[in-house]
Amino acid sequence: MPIIEVPWVKLPKSKFEQLKNGMSGVIFGISPEYVAKILYSKGKEEYNLRDDEKALDELKHEFDICHKLYKNNVGNVPKPLGIERLEIYERAYYSFIMEYIHLPRGDELEFLKLGKATNLVKEEVDKAMDIELLPGRDVLNPANFFYDSTKDIVRIIDFGRWE
Ligand SMILES: Nc1ncnc2c1ncn2[C@@H]1O[C@H](COP(=O)(O)OP(=O)(O)O)[C@@H](O)[C@H]1O
Ligand SMILES: [Mg+2]
Repeated sequence: MPIIEVPWVKLPKSKFEQLKNGMSGVIFGISPEYVAKILYSKGKEEYNLRDDEKALDELKHEFDICHKLYKNNVGNVPKPLGIERLEIYERAYYSFIMEYIHLPRGDELEFLKLGKATNLVKEEVDKAMDIELLPGRDVLNPANFFYDSTKDIVRIIDFGRWE
């Protein structure tokens, strides 16, 4: 599965560090322990952070899935904190606050480790289905999991497309 690099124009500096961009969200580091995911939309040439009510619903959905996985000990997902309005660039944006995971992402692993990690993700996917969750089609995308080689576990993120 290809990693899709978002041709993201870096946002102007803010008090929070813009860590990474995905296909639909920007991740800001808000402390060494926590990150905030804010959704964005793409205009003609620019990207805009979203603070509409639909963005709130989408983040709530993502929080709910993450919370259910966390509670059931599936996927070693980041601890979900909640939805907050984060003040940034003099406006407030809905954001999903969760634990900051400091591990190599799937796409940063060497070939054999990536194979191992991918199999672990598949095992977690089966456990998720046992608790009646339907993983997103992008769950095996190496940009959507981290791998802890000392503990030999994967940590799954990005629940936007889960049901
Ligand atoms: N809890 C987290 N801790 C550390 N980095 C994260 C965390 N959540 C997301 N990221 C980083 O941000 C990127 C985009 O987040 P993601 O939830 O996948 O957004 P999108 O829905 O846009 O794909 C991830 O690929 C990852 O590098
Ligand atoms: Mg993603």
